[in-house]
Amino acid sequence: MIAPTVWKPQPGPQEKAIRASFVDELFYGGARGGGKTDTLLGLWAAHVVECGQHARGIIFRRTYPELDEIIERSRQMYNGMFPGAEYKVGSHTWHFPNGAMLRLRHIETELDADHYQGHSYSLIGWDEITSWNDLKPYHRLKACLRSAHDVPNKQIISTGNPGGPGHNEVKAYFIDPAPEGELIEGKDGMNRMFIRSLVTDNKILLQNDPGYINRLKNVGDENLVRAWLAGDWDAIVGAFFGNWKNEQIGVPSFEIPSHWPLFGALDYGESAPSSFGLYSVDHEGAVFRIAEYYRANCTASQHADNINELIESNPFTGGRRPTAIYADPSIFVKRRLTDVMNHSAADIFAEAGLWLTRANNDRVNGWRVVNDALIKDRLFCFSGWNDNLMRTMPSLPRSKGNMEDLDTHAEDHAADELRYAMMHVYKPHRVTEPEPYEGTGQQMIDERLTTVGKRQGRYAAA
Ligand SMILES: Nc1ncnc2c1ncn2[C@@H]1O[C@H](COP(=O)(O)OP(=O)(O)O)[C@@H](O)[C@H]1O
Ligand SMILES: [Mg+2]
Repeated sequence: MIAPTVWKPQPGPQEKAIRASFVDELFYGGARGGGKTDTLLGLWAAHVVECGQHARGIIFRRTYPELDEIIERSRQMYNGMFPGAEYKVGSHTWHFPNGAMLRLRHIETELDADHYQGHSYSLIGWDEITSWNDLKPYHRLKACLRSAHDVPNKQIISTGNPGGPGHNEVKAYFIDPAPEGELIEGKDGMNRMFIRSLVTDNKILLQNDPGYINRLKNVGDENLVRAWLAGDWDAIVGAFFGNWKNEQIGVPSFEIPSHWPLFGALDYGESAPSSFGLYSVDHEGAVFRIAEYYRANCTASQHADNINELIESNPFTGGRRPTAIYADPSIFVKRRLTDVMNHSAADIFAEAGLWLTRANNDRVNGWRVVNDALIKDRLFCFSGWNDNLMRTMPSLPRSKGNMEDLDTHAEDHAADELRYAMMHVYKPHRVTEPEPYEGTGQQMIDERLTTVGKRQGRYAAA
């Protein structure tokens, strides 16, 4: 028989959280990988022991796939800790041998929260609370924190890290009013507290997954890394491209060697500006934006003619044509011109000899790629030839809804076009280069075979 594993809080913030059962509204975490979900599930386990048969709990995640992760982890933890505890899949509910009960649910909006009005819970949990747009569902369900059986230490516990749509509200409610670990007295008679945990507090994770911190550093956006790794809630307010420095990116123009590849990228608009950039890549993978075309209030055929003119008359490329032009997906949408003709702006470009390739429009990953190039000094613009990109990039604001995206109300046409180009022509490099291997190929295979067992164990335990 496998011995039941008993979950224990790790020394540091997890222990502190376990002792904070006197706090009405606890916010735990503030960074990535600090053992937040484990803590939430662990605090519920302590609640079951403390409050017995009257313990009633509910833990929310924003979406069903995210909830799956908790369900999985709760099975690992509770099956070991509470022999006889049973998870009912149909109702997403845990039944504990002493009569306690825990629901695991996903809700997206305040309206979904209304379904729970009238319920009574002695513990309410919100995992990754910044993933909700605001704190409305949270406040709406505060009224459900009650018990007919006078359960002591009723508690609402949330976890989360900076970023996400709810960043600003969570920061204003839990982070700003008092330093971490200090009690905040709420106007409604409930007190609240923020307990900070960083990934460095989660020794178990770092031991099992030593590459975790490096992978986090690899997300590209320096400010986001500061937010997630150091738990800095102020890092991600303000300009989105904190790493964009015109004086570093602008370089004197030069003749592009004829064997360097040429690419184009296009963000299309008719009344809004169209932004076209002409790019090349050197042997080291650094990207050069040679020249741009940026104009509003033109038809598709006028834009196409102007872009052809820019390509043919360019003094640094000898008028060579780009091998591919990556364009935003909207330009391929067919519009009805007459009763018998459907035409897209891309068709009109093709008639003018500009064959467009549909660009990858994954925004968040696209910005990561751009930021990666900025951090590694691998993106340059010919000074004086890229004025609109250099004018708009430094001040583009972050989206309030998604901290990993730009605010699309800003003048982002050149930025979008740059993103399409970078998504296709720039190859981000790994942060850690693999160490040179001294042995023979056969030795490498033998070594890997001896570690396979361990690696499986690691994944099984994660
Ligand atoms: N007290 C603990 N005991 C055992 N493992 C833990 C503990 N705390 C955290 N872990 C491990 O660390 C991993 C990451 O923790 P998790 O709670 O998922 O972090 P977060 O929710 O902050 O991203 C978990 O999968 C778990 O394996
Ligand atoms: Mg988690």
